[in-house]
Amino acid sequence: MTSSVTSTGPDWEQLRSHAISMAARAYVPYSHYPVGAAALVDDGRIIGGCNVENAGYGVTLCAECGLVSDLVVGGGGRLLAFVCVNADGDLITPCGRCRQLLWEHGGAALQVWSPAGVVPMTDLLPQAFGPEDLDVVATRHPAQ
Ligand code: THU
Repeated sequence: MTSSVTSTGPDWEQLRSHAISMAARAYVPYSHYPVGAAALVDDGRIIGGCNVENAGYGVTLCAECGLVSDLVVGGGGRLLAFVCVNADGDLITPCGRCRQLLWEHGGAALQVWSPAGVVPMTDLLPQAFGPEDLDVVATRHPAQ
């Protein structure tokens, strides 16, 4: 599926509807809390993911993990707009770990439709640690 950014911005309802369809596929035998995620990529792709739980609870994959996998196997690119929902289609905010995942692939330019409205990732992850921080030290100490 593809979409585009118009003068009014991303088609947020299309993204939300894709996230809802992703939540319907969630594997959640433990929490019974389905999550669906969807995002617009800078080449127009709409990608998505759902949470996949595990008997080893800590191994659970959040919906955002599936979304990032979908991004990379589909050719990579930058995330422009992101939304995630619960089983009722309500907007939810990504968990802390997943904010870091999203930062890696969208950075400050990524817009998130949250329960508080559309916000930049910098609102959800202020003073984020990212690839640039690694570059600073790597530049000072180039590999032999
Ligand atoms: N969950 C996500 O998939 N993404 C989030 O950002 C928040 C939490 C999932 C993990 C677990 O399967 C369930 O929601 C309850 O925490």
